[in-house]
Amino acid sequence: MRCNHALILLAALFALTATAACTKNDANRPVEKPSEQTASAPAQKQTGEQLFKAKCAQCHKIKDQGGVVGPDLTAIASRKDAASLQDFIKDPKKQNPSTAMPSFADLPADDLKAIVDYLGNLK
Ligand code: HEC
Repeated sequence: MRCNHALILLAALFALTATAACTKNDANRPVEKPSEQTASAPAQKQTGEQLFKAKCAQCHKIKDQGGVVGPDLTAIASRKDAASLQDFIKDPKKQNPSTAMPSFADLPADDLKAIVDYLGNLK
């Protein structure tokens, strides 16, 4: 009788640890995926200002910060509307064939819009 109890106890213990191990594994899996997603999310949700600093500021100044290869863009929105800004950034050579500004045709539409919104809100 004692022997049987010990066995049942052992079996119960084994079952418990097995379940614990399983739930641990299951709990780990969903945690990994969201953390991968959040790792890539900030890159997609960069603000116009961040995008401008990363892609444009080496050539363009805004409020005295940035490069001098291209014109200062602090007041650009008072001269160009959002649509022509987008057109220009996507394909500067269309408006000025001799421009030194590179084309940003491969910039995702959301990023382009964020940059143009940023430029539009400066004035
Ligand atoms: C390698 C340097 C360089 C980079 C990078 C660059 N530009 Fe330019 N950009 C220029 C130059 C040079 C001009 C002036 C040429 C012209 O007027 O055609 C210019 C002109 C412009 C103009 C027109 C200005 C005006 O007075 O009409 C806008 C708007 C502009 N850039 C926006 C941007 C934005 C937004 C980015 C980033 C996505 C960017 N540029 C990145 C060099 C650059």
